[in-house]
Amino acid sequence: MIRTLATGLAFAASVLALSACEKQEAAAPPESAAEAAAPAPAPVLPVSINASMVAMVSEAADPIWLDAYDPPKNPKEWRELEYHAYQMAVTGKLIQLAGTGPSDAGWVKDPQWIGFADEMSAAGMDALAAAKARNVVAVDKAGDRLVEACEGCHKIFKPSLTSMGIYHAPSFPPGYTPKEP
Ligand code: HEC
Repeated sequence: MIRTLATGLAFAASVLALSACEKQEAAAPPESAAEAAAPAPAPVLPVSINASMVAMVSEAADPIWLDAYDPPKNPKEWRELEYHAYQMAVTGKLIQLAGTGPSDAGWVKDPQWIGFADEMSAAGMDALAAAKARNVVAVDKAGDRLVEACEGCHKIFKPSLTSMGIYHAPSFPPGYTPKEP
């Protein structure tokens, strides 16, 4: 009898412990699901979009355009074109993150901005495919698509003077002393 009672109690205790455990386990997933659903804050670039344009976008685009006129001559030069194409494809996504420029946060929310930036990235992927295929005509086409993305966006978003005063051409505007990107 005592033995039965003790066993029964032990059993009851273990059921309680089990159900408490189950409750905890049952409670855990919704909490972590809620945490997972909360949007993580987007990373902020440590420099302005203006600086990214000068130091990364332009630096990757110029050689792609030049390669359409003066095609790569050896495997190393083709590989460099591939790298510039990768840089273009990635910077198209990178400039969808705001940096330290005063207008950056507003720009990156604009659907037109996102559209031009995606287009720039897609042109980079075209350039990559062209480089891998060693196809100069396709490099030229990718370059044209690229120009349209740059110009389309600049027409709408780029003020005549940049907000952060960083220019690609070191002597523009006249009398201007270049800032470090
Ligand atoms: C999604 C929009 C967008 C795209 C795409 C874009 N730009 Fe820009 N770019 C801007 C804005 C806006 C500024 C001015 C930033 C500021 O004022 O803070 C700028 C500034 C620049 C600057 C610095 C200012 C200057 O005149 O020297 C250069 C260089 C530049 N862009 C080159 C390019 C090139 C090359 C491409 C294409 C390969 C390109 N950009 C694509 C929006 C864009």
